[in-house]
Amino acid sequence: GSTTLQPRGGGSSVDAVFSPRSSYTANWTRAAALQIRQDASNTKPRIPAEFPIMTDEVWIWDTWPLTTLDMEPVAYEGWNIIFALTAPRDIFFGDRHWQARIGYFYSQDAQNWTYGGDLFPAGSSFGSREWAGSTVLTDDGEVHAFYTASGRDNGGIDPSDALQRLAHAEGRVHVDADGVYFTGFEDHTIIAEADGRLYQTLEQSEAGPIIYAFRDPFVFRDPTDRKIYALFEGNNGGVAGSHRCDRKEIGRVPGGHVVPDDARYYTGNIGIMELRNADFTSWRLLPPLLSAECTNQQTERPHLIVHEGKYYLWTISHMFTFAPGLTGPDGLYGFVGHGLRSDYKPLNGSGLVLGNPPDAPLQNYSDYVMPNLLVESFIDTVPTADGGVVYGGTLAPTLELELESDRSWLVDELPYAYIPAMTMYPW
Ligand code: FRU
Repeated sequence: GSTTLQPRGGGSSVDAVFSPRSSYTANWTRAAALQIRQDASNTKPRIPAEFPIMTDEVWIWDTWPLTTLDMEPVAYEGWNIIFALTAPRDIFFGDRHWQARIGYFYSQDAQNWTYGGDLFPAGSSFGSREWAGSTVLTDDGEVHAFYTASGRDNGGIDPSDALQRLAHAEGRVHVDADGVYFTGFEDHTIIAEADGRLYQTLEQSEAGPIIYAFRDPFVFRDPTDRKIYALFEGNNGGVAGSHRCDRKEIGRVPGGHVVPDDARYYTGNIGIMELRNADFTSWRLLPPLLSAECTNQQTERPHLIVHEGKYYLWTISHMFTFAPGLTGPDGLYGFVGHGLRSDYKPLNGSGLVLGNPPDAPLQNYSDYVMPNLLVESFIDTVPTADGGVVYGGTLAPTLELELESDRSWLVDELPYAYIPAMTMYPW
């Protein structure tokens, strides 16, 4: 007769969902990363060397829209608003990280953007530069900005200073005949620092060979429990080199796969913390949602959408941050689960969703997926026909994805910098 296989007891059931406060962490395994293959469904189209730039004033890279707590881009009194890391366009493109400021842009057609300047008053933010984050409009019309306070306070331009903390400031948005401006953002608060147990501290990372992360807060409300959380990029707590690659992290690799000894230094994770007060300043660190230990050191700018009842967790990663013995393109990676803390499975078997074309491996980066399945990113380095390169520092064509359960497809290429709002304030 026929036998039906039932999941056994003891927690081996499929699509497990856990309390956000529990300590279950999903893994992006070496076995999954070994499945990475590029094809038309997951390779970004080539960007020509002549592309439009949004402004001559600043380089633009990591970008995010003004969002509601429900993760939807929102227009304020008719204006689309986006935020981006910016640096003066007259410095070398590669030096931009050490002088980053959050700038803002506004538009009525969601694709021709006017640069509005810095979001924060001069000298008000923590750190020596402002790295990526998120900006949320709440029901009372307040704007809550979350960012990475990168470097020591008043540390100056110092590429060797890798300190990262998460910070918050509150302000208000205004519109007049000329466009959009902001007030407030004078009082900043450090809302999280790596604790060394769940999330590696800078000091613990120093024995490791590769760059460290505690950054990129993404704030949202979980539609299931209606609580407010922030995702961020971290590394697993503990001194670099003290981690061990276990079976959960390695996964079901083909026979003969050797895990190089140095893979233990690679400990990227998608961290999470929960809000504890009404003014967005008190947060509690929770165990990571996803660990890429032994697979990848960096799971940058993590963010989330909830689509057809499933939780899609997105992150960006680089070829050079894969652990030894693995590789994959710079680009967007995704995972799907049935709840905020769940048994996330890599999309398409490997996690790869959109990778750069192999002949333009640094073409664009910092993909950000919105609940309408549009993906914005910035142009990084485009190869030219004569063997040179042109630096972008401006937004790339927006791409559109289709999702079905644990599969994704690139289905369309839309205009440069197209970031339409999905909802309007006042609502
Ligand atoms: C991604 C990123 C972010 C960081 C910023 C620094 O492109 O590395 O993780 O906040 O850029 O410039």
